[in-house]
Parts: sequence; C-alpha cells; structure tokens
Amino acid sequence: MAGVPVAAPTPVDTVATVFAPTADGRKVRLRGWVEKTRHSGGLLFLLIRDRTGSVQVAAKRDALGPESFERATTLQVEGALDLEGTVHADPRAPGGREVRATSLRVVDAGQPFPIFRDQTEEFRLDKRHLVIRSHEHVATFRVKAELLAAFRRFLEAEEVLEMTPPVLTGNPAEGGAEAFQFDYFGRTGYLSQSVQLYLEALLVPNERVYALTPSFRAEKSRTPRHLTEYLHLEVELAWCDLGQLEEFIERMIATSVADVAGRRAKELKELGRAPEELAKIRAPFPRITYAEALERLRTKGFDLAWGADLRTAEEAALTMEEPTPIFVTHFPRELKAFYMLQSPADPKTVEAADLLAPEGYGEIVGASCRETSVEKLVERLKAAGADPAEYDWYLDLRRHGSVPHAGFGLGVERVLRWMLRREHIRETTPFPRTPSRHTP
Ligand code: 4AD
Ligand code: MG
Repeated sequence: MAGVPVAAPTPVDTVATVFAPTADGRKVRLRGWVEKTRHSGGLLFLLIRDRTGSVQVAAKRDALGPESFERATTLQVEGALDLEGTVHADPRAPGGREVRATSLRVVDAGQPFPIFRDQTEEFRLDKRHLVIRSHEHVATFRVKAELLAAFRRFLEAEEVLEMTPPVLTGNPAEGGAEAFQFDYFGRTGYLSQSVQLYLEALLVPNERVYALTPSFRAEKSRTPRHLTEYLHLEVELAWCDLGQLEEFIERMIATSVADVAGRRAKELKELGRAPEELAKIRAPFPRITYAEALERLRTKGFDLAWGADLRTAEEAALTMEEPTPIFVTHFPRELKAFYMLQSPADPKTVEAADLLAPEGYGEIVGASCRETSVEKLVERLKAAGADPAEYDWYLDLRRHGSVPHAGFGLGVERVLRWMLRREHIRETTPFPRTPSRHTP
C-alpha cells in the first residue's frame, strides 16, 4: 500500500556501546535518566544512566538550537531523555569518554528529586519506590536476580522439577501462631509460611521437586533478619536421608554462590564484597549436632540447657570464625515442627539440620527428613495444638505409597544478607515487609 514514507527510527544504543573500544567518533542514540546535571551559560553537562551504566553527555546551545537547549536545562535529577550524539575521548569525563549531543528530546523533565544523602531511615522507607534507584539497590537486586538464576540452573542440572504450589491455604504449615490469617469467604485462610506440605504431595511421581514462592510470617520480631514476607526456595527429594540432603544443600550453596561471584563480580565489588571470597566457599561444610553445639557454647560462656533454642547470640558464637556455613543437626524433637522424622538413633531428637551462615548472619536453611508414621504425625500435631483432621489430606500422603523423603527451605534474603554482609535484611529486598511497615 502506498503511503507517506516514514523514516526508520534510529536504533537505540546503550551506554555500554559508548565505552566499547571502537566507539570513538561514532554516532549513538541513548535513552535514559539523569543522574547529575550541571549548567553554565550555553553548556549543559548531564550524567545519564541506562541499564548498562552511566556516561557524561555535553549539550551545547549551538548544537541543539536555543529551544531544545532551554528545554534540556529543565531536566531534573531522574528526568528521562532520548538523545543522539557523537562519542569523543575526553580525559575529564568519567570513564574517559563523553557524548556530545546533536539532538535531545526530553521525555519527562521530572520534578526536583526528593532523595538526598543523610535523610532519616523512616523518610527513606516512605520513599522506597524512589530510593531503590540508588546504585546500591540496583546492584543488590542484580545480584539477587543472579542468585535466583543460579539456584534454578543448579536445580535444573540436578533434575529437580519446578512446581507451582499455592500460597493461599487452609492449614498453616509451620504452626498457627506465626501464620497470617484472613477471611476466605467466611472460612479461615492462612498465607503460606512454607509450601513444603504441597511439595510433599507433588513428590509422587516426580521424586525431586522445588518451588520458589513468597512465604509469610506473622512474627513481631524486629530483628535484622526477619521479614514478614520473604522469598522461600523449597526443595523436596524422595529416597533421601539426612546425609544426602546435607550434601545436596552444601553443593547447591557452594555452586550457586561461586556462580554469582563469577557473573556479578562488578556489582559485588561495588557493594564492598570481594567476589574471590565468595568464590572460594567450598563444600563440605562442617557438621555438628545440637548436643555438640551446646558443649561448644559452654566453652564460650553460654550455659544452655537441653531443649533451649539457639538464639542470635549463640548462632553468632558458633559461626563467628567460620569461613563457610555450618550445619547444626539433631535438635530436640520439641523444638521442631511436627513433620520432622524422629531420629532412629536418638528418639529425643529429629533428623534435622539448620544451616548457619558464617560470621553470625544466622540460619539460612532449615532442613529435615520427614516423618512417615501417621501415628507419630498425629501425636505431634496434637502436641502442637493443631487438629489432625485438618491435616488429613497430608496424612493421606503417608497412606498411599509413602517413601523416605527429605527437604529444606532456604530464605533467599537471608542468603543475600550474608553474601553482601548487609546489616539489615530489608536492604536485600525492594519493598521490605516488617511488623511496622507494609507500604509503599
Ligand atoms: O526454618 P523454616 O521455618 O522451615 C520451613 O518453613 C520448612 N517448612 C522449609 C522446608 O523444609 N521446606 O524456614 C526456612 C528458612 C529459614 O532457614 C530462613 O532462611 C527463612 O526460611 N526464614 C526467613 N527469612 C526471612 N524472614 C523470616 N521471618 C524468615 N523465617 C524463615
Ligand atoms: Mg528454621
């Protein structure tokens, strides 16, 4: 069909192309956001940023024409623009190159950006949707995306199949006290604390399954490692005992962390973490039993009776000097969830392992073999104050082809907090949910 000829749009380049070895003198088109702006007379300097990096743009009134130039001077920090120009070597520019604009279109000049240094943490959390454009957050979420990709690569290579269990549920998986409840059309619903029970159902006939879902914990714990919503990676493996499970976990962590260190070295350095340190984390990780942990803690001045939970201070004492995560295994049965397998060798304990991050960052993985006896599950549910009738669907799994199996849950933000040595877990997630905040 004949029509008005339309000029083909100029292809869009990226900041990275400006810094390619052969870019000198090249004509480029860039789209992005303003990081800094400086204006004097007929000259405007803009530091602009796209997904690949930042570059200085010099815009002259003479080159753009007065109208376009005046418009460009209205650009605020975080304003958006689309420009064409040529690449020039310039030792004064960051990275030694600048783009001299030949045309510049303001997409959104923006209002004055409200984020500055030294604002209070509360204000920064109120403005989280803007604060997350910081270099630190951008780098953090790139590392996080890479960590998720690394886990998925590992799981795929291990022939573990991704499943999509629900997060709106009728039974709390980890005990009612810490489950968010809501009205589900007149009945009580719970936000998922763990999809483990569903993964156990999906184990037949898949044998090896995983899911990556948000988990919700209604814990009023205002600690640097608790979120009320976090990303939970859960794996369930048939025909698996505790030793095999521990081996799987340490291999997954060591492989994935090294993978991230290799692929996101630039971001890790930007965040103050040496990638080489992470790359040298190797399996196997040390293993100690809960009983041994109590012994070790006694030598460090912590006097814990059998049955006491390991708190932050104790976990820190156990891991402060460790270069790799460590497993603590065989906890007292009363301390742990109803579904954990009673240890054949020591019935007052369960076949469970918590993986503690080095340097006091605390528990990153909770793992266990699953109880297969319906009687014991019923007994443990009752002891926990739950109604076994509500878990009858789960007990069915033990009535129809039940096999030894085991699994674990990993807190993605917990792992990231340790990897990036962040003071607070909220820095590892864009919109942190804590007891005091569920907005923005
Ligand atoms: O130890 P947890 O409670 O274990 C379970 O939920 C099991 N059902 C998982 C399974 O076997 N499929 O939680 C698992 C992990 C913890 O080790 C921790 O890393 C993380 O989830 N986690 C939290 N992360 C951030 N904020 C919280 N409030 C968390 N609670 C647990
Ligand atoms: Mg746990």
